[in-house]
Amino acid sequence: MSILRTEHLEKKFGAGNQGGAGVVAVCGIDLTIGGGEFVAITGASGSGKSTLLHMLGGITRPTAGRVLLEGVDLASLDDDALALVRRRRIGFVFQRYNLLPELSLVENVSLPLVLDGMSDARADEAALAALETVGMEHRARHRPDELSGGEQQRGAIARALVAKPAIVLADEPTGALDSVNSRRVVELLERLVAERGQTVILVTHDAGVAAAAIRTIRIQDGRIESDTHGVPHGLHTPTGGGA
Ligand SMILES: Nc1ncnc2c1ncn2[C@@H]1O[C@H](COP(=O)(O)OP(=O)(O)OP(=O)(O)O)[C@@H](O)[C@H]1O
Ligand SMILES: [Mg+2]
Repeated sequence: MSILRTEHLEKKFGAGNQGGAGVVAVCGIDLTIGGGEFVAITGASGSGKSTLLHMLGGITRPTAGRVLLEGVDLASLDDDALALVRRRRIGFVFQRYNLLPELSLVENVSLPLVLDGMSDARADEAALAALETVGMEHRARHRPDELSGGEQQRGAIARALVAKPAIVLADEPTGALDSVNSRRVVELLERLVAERGQTVILVTHDAGVAAAAIRTIRIQDGRIESDTHGVPHGLHTPTGGGA
């Protein structure tokens, strides 16, 4: 079953105040992503990857076309309803972690649940469980500036997971990490797909990171240049030796 579908998705940015031509960042993308897929999106800088991911996650509204998440057209939702979908069904991981500096790690992770009306005690418990998943429960009471980049990113992944979203969208989540921490983050994302059946869509410049995904979509000038399914190099190569 498709969990995410786009139809002729487009994003045009205005000309700006310098009077230049407008930019078509994403141009008529038709995409179907099934539940439990691990998809990498690659492409040159400026090709439209982040813009596409932001539209998939309801952060940016398209200028044309539609995004259907679990069959629901995101354009049919008002801002409050969209915020709710983002909080409950989608987890976002950014290149620069985006943890709030004045909160402890566990407070950062529990925040989406608290905002959603959960009691502090229950949200704290769920946040600690999410931190355990990423191997960070021992640092739960520390503030982000007391953690390494890799630790902060694992914390940010815990925050993306805490509401048990159907889809995790990650924009260059390893972009600021060394190779050891990159590998840990990628293995974590692989586990979400393999063990929990979550859908992961990952934007990356790094061919090694993209190789972990089962499907790779290359974007060029806002369009899909190629969409290939292959055997990942990762943990869960299908039995029977598919192509
Ligand atoms: N808010 C904006 N206003 C105007 N143009 C924008 C805006 N955001 C992105 N763009 C333009 O849209 C195009 C696609 O940008 P996008 O950020 O999606 O690229 P990207 O593939 O994620 O690049 P990178 O790999 O460098 O992150 C670029 O030409 C960019 O300059
Ligand atoms: Mg980008």
